[in-house]
Amino acid sequence: MASPKPNQNRYLDQESAFRGRYNKSVFNSLYLSYQPMLRKIFAFIVVGFIGRFLLLSNANIIGVWVDTFCKPSALAQCKPVPALFAGLGNVGFLQVLMVVTLGGFVCTALFRIGFSRLSAAAVSRFYDEVTLRTSRLPIQFFDTNPVGRIVTRFSSDYGNVFRMFGGPLAEFLAIIFDLTCMLILISVASLYYLPMILFIGLANYGVYRLNRNRLRIERRELSASRSPSIAHFAETTQGASTIRIFGRQPTFMTRFARLNNRFQDQRMRTTKVLLTFSMQMSGLTALLLLMTGLAGYWLAQHGLVSVGSIGVAFTFVVFSGNTLQNFFEWLAQFEEAMTGVERLDDYLRRKLEPGARLPISREFATDHPVYGRNEEETLKHARLLEARSASVTVEDLWFRYSPELPYVLKGLDFTIRPGEKIGIVGRTGSGKTSFVQALFHLYPFERGRVLIDGRGPNVDRPDQLTNNVDLGLFRRSIALISQEPTLFRGTLRENLDLTRSHSDEKLLDALTRVGLLEWFQSQPQGFESPVEERGRNLSAGEKQLLCMARCLLQDAPVIVMDEATSSIDPQSEEILVRATREFFSDRTQIIIAHRLSTLVHCDRILWLHKGEIRMFDRPEKLLPVFQNAHLT
Ligand SMILES: Nc1ncnc2c1ncn2[C@@H]1O[C@H](COP(=O)(O)OP(=O)(O)OP(=O)(O)O)[C@@H](O)[C@H]1O
Ligand SMILES: [Mg+2]
Repeated sequence: MASPKPNQNRYLDQESAFRGRYNKSVFNSLYLSYQPMLRKIFAFIVVGFIGRFLLLSNANIIGVWVDTFCKPSALAQCKPVPALFAGLGNVGFLQVLMVVTLGGFVCTALFRIGFSRLSAAAVSRFYDEVTLRTSRLPIQFFDTNPVGRIVTRFSSDYGNVFRMFGGPLAEFLAIIFDLTCMLILISVASLYYLPMILFIGLANYGVYRLNRNRLRIERRELSASRSPSIAHFAETTQGASTIRIFGRQPTFMTRFARLNNRFQDQRMRTTKVLLTFSMQMSGLTALLLLMTGLAGYWLAQHGLVSVGSIGVAFTFVVFSGNTLQNFFEWLAQFEEAMTGVERLDDYLRRKLEPGARLPISREFATDHPVYGRNEEETLKHARLLEARSASVTVEDLWFRYSPELPYVLKGLDFTIRPGEKIGIVGRTGSGKTSFVQALFHLYPFERGRVLIDGRGPNVDRPDQLTNNVDLGLFRRSIALISQEPTLFRGTLRENLDLTRSHSDEKLLDALTRVGLLEWFQSQPQGFESPVEERGRNLSAGEKQLLCMARCLLQDAPVIVMDEATSSIDPQSEEILVRATREFFSDRTQIIIAHRLSTLVHCDRILWLHKGEIRMFDRPEKLLPVFQNAHLT
């Protein structure tokens, strides 16, 4: 299969598409994951191998035991008993068998437990490191990747990785140990069986190759056919109240039944393919058993092998059939897990947002920029400036969302003085929200700069910046108030103060200032009161005021307000107006509003037209011209 072109097809959902060869960086990622525990892992692997060897060598010991009873006859000549077991009686053999078996069990158990624990810790490290970097990827990444795909990486792909590396890998390794031990032990019994075993190994591989694609396709289909019924379930629970009001339960039940049946049908098909594969493998094992019987008889007659060794061969032939089948079964799952590792590795290696850095606590040494040792701690408590308001300078700003798209801001150039209240108006699509994005440096812009208090963030063009500051610190100096309040599932405290850097008094003060004190006092659990997903358990006004209190706590010198639509309800409008006049009256304010009445109190208004400044003046001068232009 040709490898997909970067940036285009790589984003397409080619579920579990194994391209035949993994990127080198995949192995590097696995190495980084296991690095701190390599020695222990190696020790457990040795213990595991010894364990399997001991358990399987029982067959050889029994073979030797049988040979001690050998009396020369027409059927077989007797082979001498190896020196190690010479003179051992029945009780002696039983004791050896007991010790060997016990040792084998203990070693195997140690390996399974120890290895699985370490391996699970290693893949968790990998997951954490991928998450750390994904949270710092450029916004374009989140624009071009549907949420579902990103979630799939962290749920289903990681699930595949964890399902293999988090435990079953020990099983898979044990199977590999078994196969290796069997090769050694059967050769120890008699070298004559080796070609037969190798032949049957190859034949099994052939059967696997024949079935591999079919198995992969059916497995992929199975996982793909599961998601629609799950998605339908999720949709249904979200719209539960609407469905009940309209009495549409039967429609949803029918649809669910149909989707579920499709999944069950696919399940049957997959099982059928698996069964066929397993029967072919079993057929091969039966063939090998017949061959071993015939060859053993012939070899024993000619005095080439002992009777005991025929027993050993029979044991391993039966066992190897099963083990090989398991091996190929696991191989398919291992490939799936490796595909998961490859997909996560892609996120691990991507370039971070310009200006973003990884915390010093990151564990994988990748090519990403990292904070200095003390820098991070200092920055945590730092402020861009102590003053309550700051100037905003926009110099020759050219901005577009990606290089192949047209410019949405074309050479903006203006300065906002500290404490000034600026309104921004313009038709829909004129670039108002885009200006906010540029202000936060959410997208890299090609020309120009945006500075607060004369300073800009240290994105990857330091030559153009006079006074570099950390991107995070720069962003913290701007508070964004949006019409759509953003709240998360958690406690009230977490929603107000995610980093837990404020005292209860400060939190209470912020709530009082936005007028939520009375509401807060009615909450039985205080700051630990639960906030549901997207603040579902709060009224629209409460949500907005909470966000406002959060902004107050941020204590940023620049406040940006973006009214996304003109269809804002009067209550929200009132809250926003109060925010500009009361809560943030001493800050530099940038207000994007659709109702011109909101803007009459601004010091100046910026009129954007198709990404350019049409006018920038006092409201009494600008608003009449603007209204005129929009009426005609
Ligand atoms: N993430 C994005 N990727 C690509 N293009 C975008 C993106 N966001 C906005 N645009 C485009 O940029 C242009 C300006 O959009 P912007 O959101 O800045 O307009 P706006 O002035 O805020 O409009 P409105 O008043 O409707 O909110 C539009 O043509 C829009 O299609
Ligand atoms: Mg907008």
